[in-house]
Amino acid sequence: GKIAVVMGGSSGEREVSLMSGSGVLKALQSVGADVVKFDPAEQPLSDLAGIDRAFLILHGKGGEDGVIQGVMEFLKIPYTGSGVQASAIGIDKEMTKAVWEAQGIPVPRGMVLRNETDCEEAHRRFNGNLVIKPSKEGSSLGLYKLKNATLDQVKEAFAKSQEAGMTVLAEEYVFGRELTVAVLDMGEGLKAFPIIEIKAPDGDYDFEHKYFSDETVYVCPAEVPENVTEKIKAVVEKAALAVGADAWSRIDVILRGDGSFVLLEINTAPGMTPHSLVPLAARTCGISYEELVKQVAARASL
Ligand code: DAL
Ligand code: MG
Repeated sequence: GKIAVVMGGSSGEREVSLMSGSGVLKALQSVGADVVKFDPAEQPLSDLAGIDRAFLILHGKGGEDGVIQGVMEFLKIPYTGSGVQASAIGIDKEMTKAVWEAQGIPVPRGMVLRNETDCEEAHRRFNGNLVIKPSKEGSSLGLYKLKNATLDQVKEAFAKSQEAGMTVLAEEYVFGRELTVAVLDMGEGLKAFPIIEIKAPDGDYDFEHKYFSDETVYVCPAEVPENVTEKIKAVVEKAALAVGADAWSRIDVILRGDGSFVLLEINTAPGMTPHSLVPLAARTCGISYEELVKQVAARASL
C-alpha cells in the first residue's frame, strides 16, 4: 500500500522534522515502498486520500502530542508510534514525571514556574543549580541550564523560556553523565537498545550540538558497569510502558557518580536525522537505518 511520511509541521522543531522525514522518505524508497510526503503545515488533509499507512515523523506540538495521532484515528489511517494518550502524556514533561513518580521511577525534583515568586522559591530550593524549560518543547529549545545562578539569572531564563508560550518548569540540575536510551518493538515486544552516552565538549548538548556540530562524541554502548546498564534498561522499558509508548521512543537519563540515575523525559517521535541517536543505537546492534525505518513502519496501527 501507499505510505505517507508525515513531516514538517509548524512546531519549533519543524526544521528537525524535515531532516528526520527526508531520511525516512529515502529509506522507505530504498526498500521499494510506495511513498509520498505529507506536510500538514503546507498540504490539505485531502492529500491523504488513498493513503494506507502513515509514518509520523513530526516533532513537538501538533505532531508528537496526540493531535496528528487523533487525526489519523479519525481518518482510520494506521500510523506509526504512540497513540493519542501516550503522545499527549509524553509531550508534557510535567505529566510524564507525575506518571513516572507514581510508579517509583526516579525523576529530578521540580516545580512549575508561573511568576517571579516561583522563581525565588526555585532558586532557593535548588540552590541556584537548576534547569528551566518549557514543558512541551523538544531539542532543547527554550531550555536553560543554570549553575550557581543568581536570582536575576533565574528570572531572566524564566522570561525567555516563557516565550515558547507554554507552562515553564524548573528542575534541580542533576550533575552526571548524559545518557539516552532507545526503546523499540522490533516484533518481540518493547526492548531497550544499547545505551548511548553523549559527551558534548562543554557539557552543553544544545540545539546546535544536536543537529549541526561534529564536536559531540557519542559512545555506544556507553561504558557503564553491567549491573547499572541492566538496571537502567529495565527502568527505561518500564518508563516507556508507563506512559503507553509501546512502539518506539527515546528516553533521556542522567547517571550520577554514585550509580544512581534519573529519567528526564521521553520522546515519542524521536529524531531520525543523520545526527540522531535512535539510528545510532540501532546501528550498534547491526540494524541499518533502512531496516529500522522498515520495522517501525511495519508496526503502524490504529
Ligand atoms: N525532539 C527530538 C527530535 C528528539 O528527541 O530526537
Ligand atoms: Mg525531547
